[in-house]
Amino acid sequence: MFIAMNRFRIAPGHEAEFEELWRSRESHLAGVPGFREFHLLRGPGEADHTLFASHSVWESRESFEAWTKSDAFRKAHANAGGANRALYLGPPRLECFEVVL
Ligand code: HEM
Repeated sequence: MFIAMNRFRIAPGHEAEFEELWRSRESHLAGVPGFREFHLLRGPGEADHTLFASHSVWESRESFEAWTKSDAFRKAHANAGGANRALYLGPPRLECFEVVL
């Protein structure tokens, strides 16, 4: 198994807006080969931001990488960033993990 997490630093006061953006998104994950699970995680609030992570579980690194090159990925990100730039303290940070146990 393989886990890809993207960490987002969200400006204080914009948390609900960020969550709503994810709740109301048109998801394209169902049926993607090797996709297992998705969670949007809200982490600790710091003085200057609240941490969120998009957490996705895949059968393998290969299935994750294939998704990043797919039409489903492109469609899911057609509106990412851009108009909502005020929400973010900076670009998201991607972290990938091989599941050991
Ligand atoms: C390889 C890197 C990335 C990974 C692994 C990733 C992961 C994901 C996943 C799993 C979804 C849900 C897709 C669905 O439901 O069909 C998603 C949507 C989204 N991603 Fe990414 N993402 C990446 C790059 C980025 C970047 C660079 C941004 C820049 C802000 C971003 C922002 C978003 C947002 C805001 C959404 C959902 C909302 C919408 O519909 O607009 N992602 N991402």
